[in-house]
Amino acid sequence: MRMTCANWNDAAEIIAVKRLKSWSNKAEKEFAVEVEILARVRHKSLLSLRGYCAEGQERLIVYDYMPNLSIHSQLHGQHAAECNLGWERRMKIAIDSAEGIAYLHHYATPHIIHRDVKASNALLDSNFQARVADFGFAKLIPDGATHVTTKVKGTLGYLAPEYAMLGKPLKAATSSALESCS
Ligand SMILES: Nc1ncnc2c1ncn2[C@@H]1O[C@H](COP(=O)(O)OP(=O)(O)OP(=O)(O)O)[C@@H](O)[C@H]1O
Ligand SMILES: [Mg+2]
Repeated sequence: MRMTCANWNDAAEIIAVKRLKSWSNKAEKEFAVEVEILARVRHKSLLSLRGYCAEGQERLIVYDYMPNLSIHSQLHGQHAAECNLGWERRMKIAIDSAEGIAYLHHYATPHIIHRDVKASNALLDSNFQARVADFGFAKLIPDGATHVTTKVKGTLGYLAPEYAMLGKPLKAATSSALESCS
């Protein structure tokens, strides 16, 4: 998928648009999962869905634009030289991200496991409020289940060892990915 930003309806507001580069069953599934999950959740620490398009092989998802990009961009990417992330701000970003993930695990119905928490998927708005994004790998957990065995998904280096080895997306496994974001 490719991210781009655009003016919305000629207004002064900028939006972010994710567009599928080429259509495949796998990409279509990720698109459908992301739209379904974003439509179910609303929390200050999760990126909001503004709209989507599924027409022919065209797949677009429209989000709020996050002007401070991601934790990864701030630490290692295009904003790294500006040193915007002091320790107090980092602590708030970690707590806000954890609150977003806790909402997915405990309050969303059914519960949701993100499965791809990492620094480039934790975005930052104009006030450096963290917004967890990218739900294409997420998994809905049926009521009462403590774990679901699935194919291992996510990004190598951010997977909790017990998840990578056993394929169980335990709720604690997502939280350990946050530790790798610092
Ligand atoms: N709503 C948004 N506003 C601003 N930038 C965004 C937004 N959503 C994503 N981005 C940025 O766009 C870039 C591409 O995002 P994308 O999710 O496609 O790739 P990624 O997070 O780098 O890797 P991966 O494909 O493994 O998730 C990233 O740098 C991400 O931080
Ligand atoms: Mg991403």
